[in-house]
Amino acid sequence: MDLQGKTALITGAASGIGAACARSYAAAGAHVVCTDVADDAGQQVADEIGGRYRHLDVADSSAWTALASELADDPGHLHVVHLNAGVMMGLGNIAEMSDEDYLRIIGINQHGAVFGLRAAVPLLEAAGGGHALVTGSMASFSPLPVDLGYSMSKHAIAALVRSAAPNLAERGISLNAICPATVGTGFLGGNRDRLEDAGMVIMDSEEVAEAAMAILDSGLTGECFALFKGREPEPFPFATVPGSDYRSRR
Ligand SMILES: NC(=O)c1ccc[n+]([C@@H]2O[C@H](COP(=O)([O-])OP(=O)(O)OC[C@H]3O[C@@H](n4cnc5c(N)ncnc54)[C@H](O)[C@@H]3O)[C@@H](O)[C@H]2O)c1
Repeated sequence: MDLQGKTALITGAASGIGAACARSYAAAGAHVVCTDVADDAGQQVADEIGGRYRHLDVADSSAWTALASELADDPGHLHVVHLNAGVMMGLGNIAEMSDEDYLRIIGINQHGAVFGLRAAVPLLEAAGGGHALVTGSMASFSPLPVDLGYSMSKHAIAALVRSAAPNLAERGISLNAICPATVGTGFLGGNRDRLEDAGMVIMDSEEVAEAAMAILDSGLTGECFALFKGREPEPFPFATVPGSDYRSRR
């Protein structure tokens, strides 16, 4: 995809998947607005790719409003928004989950995507259309008993994408999710070697960045693309709800 003269905004750009995607959007010609809460690392990525860094806690709706108003005055057109920032909670016992644990993970992983999409849509529309991509996970499709909050928040990404896409399509905006299996980032907490020794297949962030570009260029919307190492991203085949044709039968 040619992003010459276009602006791309990405959250969680300081490391891992976000940093790799920021590099690949810049390589396609975009001016990249890198955002994160890890300011030093985020600034470094932005400097490396000739982009701009802004501190943005994705869970803070007023911070989104401020950034959107800055971008509205921007001469470049916002063409791509990639809502990528996310955290894990690492808790499987609901009885041990504090309010703080729960609100933090839902705030960052779920509210962060909702606030970001809401802030970006008017800008994408003003630019004549564009693309929104959210980083989901295999946990968007499957239960994850070792991390309840993570699975709940990533299921919400699938619901957001599949529900919001039809309305956005009428306004020239595509909305998809990229849902990778395990990726070798800070998420693994330095356990990559141990996990690989145990037989787990781990992909690199660059492979996710390549897939993200392919999804933006796919012409599809409302899809949650599953991504495994060495394979093309594939839209997840959600099942039809049994009996969901009841209206047409009555
Ligand atoms: N690594 C994996 O195995 C894997 C697999 C599937 C999906 N994902 C998803 O990929 C996305 C990126 O994760 P990653 O693997 O690159 O890990 P990472 O830890 O390298 O990157 C996450 C980034 O999000 C930032 N962040 C954390 N809280 C934030 C907040 N409140 N506001 C803004 N930024 C914040 C962090 O500073 C960090 O730079 C996440 O949404 C994660 O759920 C990761």
